[in-house]
Amino acid sequence: MSLLRLKIKRFQKERHPQQWLETFDVKIQKGMNLLEALLRIQDEQDGTLSFRYSCRGAVCGSCAMKVNGVLVLACRTPVGPLLGETALIEPLPHFPVIRDLIVDFSSFFEHYRKIKPYLHEKPSSSDRETLMREEDRKEIDPYIQCILCGICFGACPSYGREAQFLGPAILAKAYRFLRDPRERREKEILKSVNGHRGVWGCNTVFECVRVCPKKVPPTHAIIKMRWKILRLKLRFFNLLSKGEEIM
Ligand code: FES
Repeated sequence: MSLLRLKIKRFQKERHPQQWLETFDVKIQKGMNLLEALLRIQDEQDGTLSFRYSCRGAVCGSCAMKVNGVLVLACRTPVGPLLGETALIEPLPHFPVIRDLIVDFSSFFEHYRKIKPYLHEKPSSSDRETLMREEDRKEIDPYIQCILCGICFGACPSYGREAQFLGPAILAKAYRFLRDPRERREKEILKSVNGHRGVWGCNTVFECVRVCPKKVPPTHAIIKMRWKILRLKLRFFNLLSKGEEIM
């Protein structure tokens, strides 16, 4: 059994008005992940240590945090590579801290509600299921993988600067519905993402793509929506003839 040293950034309003760092040594076994190490600290050393988790299998997205400057899901982060030196554990950046490693996701879900993230189906005269072409399914597949963990928000300089920016996960989800051939709200979705708090607020630095634990590419979705908006505008002003494409 080895000893892992974690330095955890803590915050408990009733104990201290500021965040502080606290070091814990935790016994780890082969194959353990960071979430299990935190649970062991909570069980054996400090029952007040607070963090979110649910599925323990990289599905619910609730255990996102910062480890040695890298944004990760604790439940899929093996502790082996962290052995040998002190690992710094911090809450997800760009969100207000509620307690220890728990951050406030209210603004994330406020933004999420703005795009109405559910299918608004086109009316159909058929009583059969709507079949989807393989290429359409392939286009939306990467975006369906999003687990709303907020890691992309934590890495996004645009969201860090401007909390009203819709943010990578939300824009990726908007694209997921925009490209769904069953969805009827094309113009409405584009309207909701058009603006400096939407697709035009992105710095296109691809940080969200780099950090996503599910390999969702939000920047690609943002760029595609920008082109779509431009095409519609050019058509509106008759600068693009029917069938002509700019990209
Ligand atoms: S506990 Fe669900 S993603 Fe980690």
